[in-house]
Amino acid sequence: MKIIIVKDQQQGGKKALEVFQAALNQGAEVFGLATGSTPETTYTEIVKSDLDFSQKISLNLDEYVGLKADNPQSYRAYMQQHLFNFKQFKRSYLPQGDAADSQAEIQRYNDLLAQYQVDLQLLGIGKNGHIGFNEPGSSFTEQTRKVKLTPSTVAANARFFASKEDVPQYAYSMGIGSIMRAKSILLEAFGVTKADAVAAMVEGPVTPDCPASILQQHPDVTVILDQAAASKLSR
Ligand code: F6R
Repeated sequence: MKIIIVKDQQQGGKKALEVFQAALNQGAEVFGLATGSTPETTYTEIVKSDLDFSQKISLNLDEYVGLKADNPQSYRAYMQQHLFNFKQFKRSYLPQGDAADSQAEIQRYNDLLAQYQVDLQLLGIGKNGHIGFNEPGSSFTEQTRKVKLTPSTVAANARFFASKEDVPQYAYSMGIGSIMRAKSILLEAFGVTKADAVAAMVEGPVTPDCPASILQQHPDVTVILDQAAASKLSR
């Protein structure tokens, strides 16, 4: 793992832009994207930049089950608001939250992932070490599936909803097996609330108790941290 420590999330976004630029320079065609507060500055920097994704493919990690694409809380709406309205990709895929047939939707997404190997996968990390919505205990080999969110993740996501009761309990998520197939991975973490998860990911044992710890076994991972998120690393 290559660890880069920056002053704050703003600087993190600028560093992440460099990683996207380098991937484009090396011919990357397929980008795996994430939502949440972590990548916001990265998307701001990409939007301000002259990087061209108009011939590229994007595939998002996850989407809430039950939300229509035009629901403002959906991850599709998040991506429109933060990136796609300003930088268009040739094609952008997310799981369809309101798909009538869950199994068919999971199959569709796994077929897409088989068709398009991700060149650069952007990730955040949950306070409990989740990546995508692969909560502690998830298998390291699974592909896209429907997952039940843990109470801690529902509570963390509640800030985006009018009330805790409105937070969906299930999501479609790429599995850890899908994430590990990416050729390169960029994980960002900012703030002291991520410090324990970051220490477990980087320095702890590789265990499903901290899903992100599997990234120690990926050959090309860059981690961008602010000083607070790096504060519990011993080295
Ligand atoms: C988002 C995702 C999640 C988030 C994680 C951190 O697509 O898959 O794993 O990256 O929950 O969320 P934030 O960035 O809001 O702290």
